[in-house]
Amino acid sequence: MVGQDLEVQLASGEARRYVNLDFAASTPAMQPVVDTVLSLLPWYASVHRGTGYASQVTTRAYEAARVAVAAFVGARSTDEVIFVRNTTEAINLLARCITLRPEQVVLSTGLEHHSNMLPWRRLAKVVYLDPPPDSDALLMAVKRALDDRSRPVGIVAVTGASNVTGEVLPISEIAWLAHEHGALVAVDAAQLAPHRPIDMVAMGIDCVAISGHKMYAPFGAGALIAPSAVLHDAEPMLAGGGAVTYVTLDDVQWAPAPDRLEAGSPNVIGAVALAAAATALQEIGFEHIAAHERRLLAYLDGRLDDLPHVTRLRLWNGAGVDRLGLSTFVLDGTHHALAAAVLSAEHAVGVRHGCFCAHPYITHLLGVSIADAHTIRERLRRGEHRDIPGAVRASFGIGTTVEHIDRLVDGLTALCEHGPRLQYVEDADTGDYRPVDDRRMLPRFALLPQLELAGISAGCGQF
Ligand SMILES: Cc1ncc(COP(=O)(O)O)c(C=O)c1O
Repeated sequence: MVGQDLEVQLASGEARRYVNLDFAASTPAMQPVVDTVLSLLPWYASVHRGTGYASQVTTRAYEAARVAVAAFVGARSTDEVIFVRNTTEAINLLARCITLRPEQVVLSTGLEHHSNMLPWRRLAKVVYLDPPPDSDALLMAVKRALDDRSRPVGIVAVTGASNVTGEVLPISEIAWLAHEHGALVAVDAAQLAPHRPIDMVAMGIDCVAISGHKMYAPFGAGALIAPSAVLHDAEPMLAGGGAVTYVTLDDVQWAPAPDRLEAGSPNVIGAVALAAAATALQEIGFEHIAAHERRLLAYLDGRLDDLPHVTRLRLWNGAGVDRLGLSTFVLDGTHHALAAAVLSAEHAVGVRHGCFCAHPYITHLLGVSIADAHTIRERLRRGEHRDIPGAVRASFGIGTTVEHIDRLVDGLTALCEHGPRLQYVEDADTGDYRPVDDRRMLPRFALLPQLELAGISAGCGQF
């Protein structure tokens, strides 16, 4: 993994080996991905339009990337791979391409990331299922909602795994129920794709969205994979060059998908990086990836449970629940933003804190009352980010070790037993904490202006 041996500074100025436990937000780059990108770069030239040798290489590499991504998700020959920036863009694009009948609704859950909530609201009324106590209850709720003829479901839009608590959802079973009722199934696989195999055919998934930066390929590309019948007649989200077959001064003939939905010069490097990551993950083997993560997760959960002031947030308990490599928790008496700041400034451990772009779900998990939620909303509207409820999330993947988990737990133990070693101030604009005496210097990158230390804070939007 690139950056595996990174040394960073503590607020005191001392150097420490960095522990990255924020994979669920963005993973580091995988070395084979970077090697593939570097090997392509000398050949990089215009894509699709050039007749030169290098243009031919670039075009072939871009199209080969589609084939690799299709294979990665087990797509049908009738599916299209559309390269986009990320899962958010993929879901927005899909929601725009789908046509529902006026009476049809979208069925979804209260667990979703905002990126799998908000785009669907633009398409139709969305019916959300409450976070269920177990996966059987989820399936029963899905069935009940599908059976309700007063609001026929056109599409079931569901995450493959929660980015807040890591539970893997029973996608195959949901898809089976949806298809029995004539509904399509769209899976937000931003979290699932780097950790578990996806097989659109075997699992009955119609449409799937993935992000390169969450699967060890942070080069700005993601993909939507969906039946060409769904995408075929859609009005393009972006209008422009490359998406057309013919243009007159008062008319346009759109090209078939995928070109129709990829106007403008595509991100060839990002697409190739995504494809390289997809291939590398398959070569490592998901059985190894999942086994490694399950071992570490059991260790992390056990160590967190031994800390008296730490409470893990869980949706489903019990044996047989498959969870990705992440644990989200709250600390008695310590605000999540302060805990994350202490882990970074005093222990060189990087985690995420806040609400993880899943306000309805985190509100449910934290038991925030409707009245409190209303107050929070009003405070955020006024730009007050202090003391907003939330949690800390530690997430990991390939390359994470027991030592990394120990460093996190040692940091939390010190914090719970003695409080922060340094003095911190809260930034009223962002709700983040920073040490009063912060000696950290940020690295200098050639051709970039010197980075400001203020940039190290998480910035607005944590909630
Ligand atoms: C479950 C889930 N869906 C969607 C997204 C959005 O992904 P992106 O930011 O790559 O568009 C995320 C990002 O955290 C996520 O965890």
